[in-house]
Amino acid sequence: MSSHIQRATELVAEAESVVVLTGAGMSAESGVPTFRDAQTGLWQRFAPEQLATEEAFRANPSMVWTWYVWRAMLVDSVDPNAGHHAIGTWQQHLAARDGSLTVATQNVDDLHERGGAQDVLHLHGSLHSYRCLECGTPGTFDPASTGITADQDFDHETFVPTVHCDHCELGVLRPNVVWFGESLPEQAFAAAVSALQQAQLVVVVGSSGLVQPAASLPLIAHEAGASLIEINPAATTLSDTADIYIPSTAAVALPELLADIV
Ligand code: OAD
Repeated sequence: MSSHIQRATELVAEAESVVVLTGAGMSAESGVPTFRDAQTGLWQRFAPEQLATEEAFRANPSMVWTWYVWRAMLVDSVDPNAGHHAIGTWQQHLAARDGSLTVATQNVDDLHERGGAQDVLHLHGSLHSYRCLECGTPGTFDPASTGITADQDFDHETFVPTVHCDHCELGVLRPNVVWFGESLPEQAFAAAVSALQQAQLVVVVGSSGLVQPAASLPLIAHEAGASLIEINPAATTLSDTADIYIPSTAAVALPELLADIV
């Protein structure tokens, strides 16, 4: 066991209120590409302003839908990794001892839930829910009905679902994710801030820390006196601030860190 992990296991053993903040690196070993990694990151292949904005959706709904349906199908085709399972087990372990563990993620996949975590705060929305572009009312849509599959390379526009909103009948459905320039879901963000203000320990896994306001969340807890552990194979702007920076991956470091619990 590395000395980083050994020191971190002591913090884990002492902490009764924990927040785990995750980004795209959390799901990388499940086979979901990150946004900014040099070889595989989605933003290396696609420009965010072409795909993750309301302007892009209004200008080219076919392209934006195709991208989100492809990602939903990709996520459905993969499994949670050992890191997701370790977090789920840790949450159950603390709950059984009157402690608490809150998971707040920038990820739009459902791998934390499938790894056993409950009440996950999705700060950037979900790939598996939809809402009206105009009035915001939730709507239903089955991405599998499009015929788009995970193994097909995302390279062209194949699909436009013009599903009208049942409520206002004017708008069409859009993915229920946070696009650039949009606010985070108020309830999820407030719940994350509240959990961070009370946390004894915060573990940040697999985020480049380049997208606000999620990137500032660990600092709220740090300023309130919480210990901070970061797990990321590449150092970030948070690494120097963290009490312990573990230069390893989610699926390797989390089970090691939680070996006494999981
Ligand atoms: P990024 O793609 O920016 O960063 C992924 C991070 O994960 C990097 O720091 C990698 O070093 C790290 N990483 C890679 N593999 C890992 C592994 N196996 N284990 C642990 N860490 C690993 O992803 P995010 O920080 O999540 O927003 O990106 C934030 C937001 O930017 C996303 O939610 C998305 C994107 O634009 C929107 O679409 C609004």
